[in-house]
Amino acid sequence: AKVVLAYSGGLDTSIIIPWLKENYGYEVVAMAADLGQGEELEPLHEKAAKTGATKLYIEDLREEFITDFIYPTLQAGAVYEGKYLLGTSFARPLIARRLVEIAEKEGAVAVAHGATGKGNDQVRFELAVKALNPDLKIIAPWREWDIKSRDDAIDYAKERGIPVPVTKDRPYSMDRNLWHLSHEGGDLEDPWNEPKDDLYLLGVSPMQAPDQAAYVLIDLEKGIPVAVDGEKLAPIQLIEKLNALGGKNGIGIVDMVENRLVGMKSRGVYETPGGTILYAAHQALELLTLDRQTLHYKEQIALKYAEMVYDGVWYSPLREALDAFVKVTQKNVTGTVRMRLYKGNCTPVGIKSPYSLYNEEFATFGEDAVYNQKDAEGFINLFGLPLKVRALMERKSGLR
Ligand code: ARG
Ligand code: SIN
Repeated sequence: AKVVLAYSGGLDTSIIIPWLKENYGYEVVAMAADLGQGEELEPLHEKAAKTGATKLYIEDLREEFITDFIYPTLQAGAVYEGKYLLGTSFARPLIARRLVEIAEKEGAVAVAHGATGKGNDQVRFELAVKALNPDLKIIAPWREWDIKSRDDAIDYAKERGIPVPVTKDRPYSMDRNLWHLSHEGGDLEDPWNEPKDDLYLLGVSPMQAPDQAAYVLIDLEKGIPVAVDGEKLAPIQLIEKLNALGGKNGIGIVDMVENRLVGMKSRGVYETPGGTILYAAHQALELLTLDRQTLHYKEQIALKYAEMVYDGVWYSPLREALDAFVKVTQKNVTGTVRMRLYKGNCTPVGIKSPYSLYNEEFATFGEDAVYNQKDAEGFINLFGLPLKVRALMERKSGLR
């Protein structure tokens, strides 16, 4: 029987290969996903074979990562606990989807992943697999084996002739893709410790950013970014370009203590340079183009959407329904936002849209010909009626 393993080529997923063979007697097919983590994946063919996998699939998922996962979440305006742009969270259902497809093609009975038993990622992988193919068995070696530390893992690898990376790894648990890079663990485990300035890999700390502001124009169509500085760009190029620009200016660094789904709080430092620019631009354009009721209702949807993405409930009827709502709201979210990037701040400083609901004639503090100030009196009388009635009652009944 076969198992398909989500494989990165790192130490953990490497030792999972012999472990699955020894403990389950399965033939191991590996799958490495390219999500824009910026690593050469071709060399993994040889490495996976040497480690005992019968086959390695290398899957370029970058484009569908953006169009199927990143952009819907951006359009929803979903942010977890006010800060986290969900970069790891929505990558998991995508990896799981391809894992299931390959398992079906290979006639495998099981899938396996290298997420630990203490985190969110295990939940996200497994909820996706259950939703997409309930027959597949799911194996999470971290919940089963006796390996407790990196040293245990190295010993296990050495005993089986698996090459162990000689370079001393950074002490952090990191996850990188096109959208973001996360850091957890090491000295970050104490929330009193400030992240060291050399932690950042996608850009610089705001304190090391240029003293000169940079400006960038973002064009959006129906809530989807399509051009940077007037140049139409394909999704991958667009995000790469904004990552470089944002990173240089210290944009998109988030340091937070968050609530994991499995119960504990954890501390993470995230770098999401391009994504942060896009969220700010998208929000500015919505403020210009959405009516008040829709905007406010959408703020509530965004909270639920973020929670569902974080929790890994991607393939679910509610998420699909929320998506349908969001899609309707994006009909007129088309226009251009001028962003100013300066030492970690990313500020919309100019907005325009052919569908702008901002009407200078109505809003002006100067003289206008369209708004009758006398109308406001009747409006306030009715809008305030419940407050007035209550105040009268309280006076009459002696409550005040
Ligand atoms: N805490 C973040 C999340 O739950 C990041 C997780 C990073 N995962 C990892 N395998 N390093 O989405
Ligand atoms: C892991 O436990 O594998 C990483 C952290 C997380 O999933 O939250």
